[in-house]
Amino acid sequence: MLTERQVAGLRRTLDGWRAQGQTIALVPTMGALHAGHLSLVGVARAHADRVVASLFVNPRQFGPSEDFARYPRNEAADAAAFEAAGIDLFWAPDVAAMYPQGFATSITVEGPAAGMEADTRPGFFAGVATVVAKLFTQTGADVAVFGEKDWQQLQVIGRMAADLDLRTRILSGPTVRETDGLAMSSRNAYLSPAERARAAELYATLERTAAALVSGRGVATCLAEGRGHLAERFDGLDYLELREAGSLAPLERLVPPARLLAAVRLGSTRLIDNIAVAPAAQREGGAP
Ligand code: PAF
Repeated sequence: MLTERQVAGLRRTLDGWRAQGQTIALVPTMGALHAGHLSLVGVARAHADRVVASLFVNPRQFGPSEDFARYPRNEAADAAAFEAAGIDLFWAPDVAAMYPQGFATSITVEGPAAGMEADTRPGFFAGVATVVAKLFTQTGADVAVFGEKDWQQLQVIGRMAADLDLRTRILSGPTVRETDGLAMSSRNAYLSPAERARAAELYATLERTAAALVSGRGVATCLAEGRGHLAERFDGLDYLELREAGSLAPLERLVPPARLLAAVRLGSTRLIDNIAVAPAAQREGGAP
């Protein structure tokens, strides 16, 4: 596995591979790797000759009161995990390489970037879109793979890539869950044992609400019940929403493809999750 920290070196290596006719897949991450990230490497490997994984804790996607300073960082462990997963190149720029002195550009996405995460985290999607566009132009990747756990982010990136005619094709990998259903996330490391024991109720509530919707009960009733349940079980409810899966427009009736998305607070940790709302046999998978 090669490691690059400067854009010029990255481009030299990738241009060399391209000159040999090889295709390139990118797996963007902020590190603190878990099995979910490593499953995205598997998707990347299946779609390209070379796999590049990036590690960059992007300051532009954290609000002033968010967890940028305490976000879990262990580059050596992440590099070892990526190497064991078989990536070809570890792209690990520092902030000065990503945002050189005088950097003054920001990409704003509307449509799927409105509401939900954006209500609680203003500036988050502009930060994500800007860094992801840079990762795409730095690497010129043929494909890039993102987790479905961050469903709204996945739709925002898909929208941006389409709107800006970016050549990188967006692929997704399904959410990887702990045995009790909790979606794997780098931020799960913040949970105390008592909080961890309560955390799986988020996925359980999504499943119950989705089953009620599929059984034909009204959207407003199902969402009200689900919201009540989450508000009781967690320390705060940011949202529980039924949305059209791609545009993320609100749905008043269950019309496929539909997605149920939620964010809750548990102590000082914010958990997000989402599932497809469809009969069980038609669930997981699907590119944005
Ligand atoms: O999902 C993440 O880890 C980040 O938002 C991403 C896509 C790597 C951009 O910083």
